[in-house]
Amino acid sequence: MELLKSVRLLSNVLFYRFKYGHPGEVDRHWENYWRHIGKTGQGGEVLWDNEPERASAEDLPRFSPHMDPSLPLLDFGCGNGRQSRYLARHFDRVIATDVSPTAIAKAREETPAELKIDYRVLDALKPDQARAFHDEFGDVNVYMRTVMHVVQKGDRPKFVETLSTLIGKRGTLYQIELSLCALDYFRTLPGNSPSGLPSHVHNVIRTGATSVGFDPKERFTLYPESRFQVLAEGDDVTINTVTLHHGEEGRVPANYLIVRNRNGHGP
Ligand SMILES: C[S@@+](CC[C@H](N)C(=O)[O-])C[C@H]1O[C@@H](n2cnc3c(N)ncnc32)[C@H](O)[C@@H]1O
Repeated sequence: MELLKSVRLLSNVLFYRFKYGHPGEVDRHWENYWRHIGKTGQGGEVLWDNEPERASAEDLPRFSPHMDPSLPLLDFGCGNGRQSRYLARHFDRVIATDVSPTAIAKAREETPAELKIDYRVLDALKPDQARAFHDEFGDVNVYMRTVMHVVQKGDRPKFVETLSTLIGKRGTLYQIELSLCALDYFRTLPGNSPSGLPSHVHNVIRTGATSVGFDPKERFTLYPESRFQVLAEGDDVTINTVTLHHGEEGRVPANYLIVRNRNGHGP
């Protein structure tokens, strides 16, 4: 039975890999993902799009004491902006970026006029875009919820370069990412899709987007002590999904990290 389930999952993953090409092409895959999305939020199709009370509100007390409140807050990889909207009620200036133009269009549509959020398209794997952003906004604090884990391992050093450019000399980065065991966790939940996974997870796989997870040990290579100061970290947290088809939300194992560039580093 277990073997059959694994074969079913693997054949689905391989099928979409051949259909949509290399998982490193995150810009194409994530645009593809967001174009397929009709409804967002609770009752919608987006796996992680939970109410902020079950998402960024849990993060806020963890990261805000480490951030200089005079800097803008950037919600990096914001998707349809649900968490950005919550953050905009707690910070004077919020900017939100995503690689997918369709995600940014949805975020703008879902944002009431009284909330002043600056939405932009920005690809973390294009360092020139980060430099242009930094030239425009200066140092920012970065909030990043479940973005690095979708970036393939070989692309992560470039991804971190982008984050380092954005925070510059005064900003702080908070990242919360799915752990390596996230897929194993999803496999324990009742499935209702061709891959045998909950349909919300299948919605991601079927567009070519591929999650790899983030191993807390990666911080030693990606954020070396010589360049980054680690302010806090932990692996006792979860990313809470929307309600899945079995009637409950998923509580996906995750980890977080709070870092700054060391003096002398950054742009
Ligand atoms: C799992 S979703 C999380 C969305 C949002 N942070 C939230 O918690 O609601 C990952 C997001 O990262 C974006 N993304 C993926 N690769 C990216 C890249 N290279 N640069 C910027 N954003 C990226 C995707 O388009 C997607 O919206």
